Amino acid sequence: MPSEVLYWLLGDGRKIFMDCTVGYSGHAEKLLEGSGPDGRLVGLDRDRSAIEASRQRLSRFGARAILIHGHFMELKQHLSEQGLAQVDGIVFDLGVSSPQLDEPARGFSFQQDGPLDMRMDQSIGGTAADLINRWPEAQLADAIFQFGEERFSRRIARAIVRARERHPLGTTKELVSVIEGAVPANYRHGRLHCATRTFQALRISVNQELDCLESALRDAVDVLSPGGRLCVISFHSLEDRIVKHTFRALSGKEDPALVVLTKKPQVSTREESDRNPRSRSAKLRAIQRVSKEGHS
Ligand SMILES: C[S@@+](CC[C@H](N)C(=O)[O-])C[C@H]1O[C@@H](n2cnc3c(N)ncnc32)[C@H](O)[C@@H]1O
Repeated sequence: MPSEVLYWLLGDGRKIFMDCTVGYSGHAEKLLEGSGPDGRLVGLDRDRSAIEASRQRLSRFGARAILIHGHFMELKQHLSEQGLAQVDGIVFDLGVSSPQLDEPARGFSFQQDGPLDMRMDQSIGGTAADLINRWPEAQLADAIFQFGEERFSRRIARAIVRARERHPLGTTKELVSVIEGAVPANYRHGRLHCATRTFQALRISVNQELDCLESALRDAVDVLSPGGRLCVISFHSLEDRIVKHTFRALSGKEDPALVVLTKKPQVSTREESDRNPRSRSAKLRAIQRVSKEGHS
């Protein structure tokens, strides 16, 4: 939802930005273009290949773009290492990127065969294969239920444990066929691929995606300058719930200087959903630290 991000973040003298999930720099590039000639952006991503690709894509902006391989739970530290205490606009565009999904070797996609990896940061251990082959059945079922909201979580966990007793599961296709064999036929041929929810759950578990989201959002509003804005795009209800509740708590009693700008989350336009089907489930929420003169 690049145009919505630009709508909320650009203007009113905002010049210093942080993209906490810079990915392949779709948003970052537009923010730098829109804030030229002196706007600056710090881009973070826990995926080293995203940082390398962004370095090339943003090279024409020179020192205006700073790219860092890191986790957004350490955003304050990364900013202070750049000599920055405050920024005017922050974006989080959560989840996986299309290049991550499209690369079979990363193991994120059930549509392509690859190793069961799913780590966003490949410099730290704990792949999806480790989890699938080692976790007790109940822990697997709970994760698939909680993070995938998968109603057949128990059947799927049982089938995984049976399959791994024969030999450890190593590839995405092996896991897909275990899932297909575990669910009822009408679910197997339903509108949503029957492995979608299990893959989402595993990805969230491998990357511990929900664990530090609230604290990262709290750190982000702490470093917003007066008049500064934070935009968060989420892709599933579990993330959106955390964003909604954190914004509500912050703008309620906790910090009277914070105002939620989006009463309801913004969703992608019909045109964008047609062009990019993944954006169909995207929800954007924005919050602002009011300037001394009041909220602009
Ligand atoms: C949806 S993509 C972002 C796409 C980006 N907005 C663009 O325009 O190209 C999400 C990115 O966030 C990164 N990411 C997810 N969790 C992260 C975290 N905790 N810290 C830093 N980066 C993270 C992923 O590696 C991925 O590259």
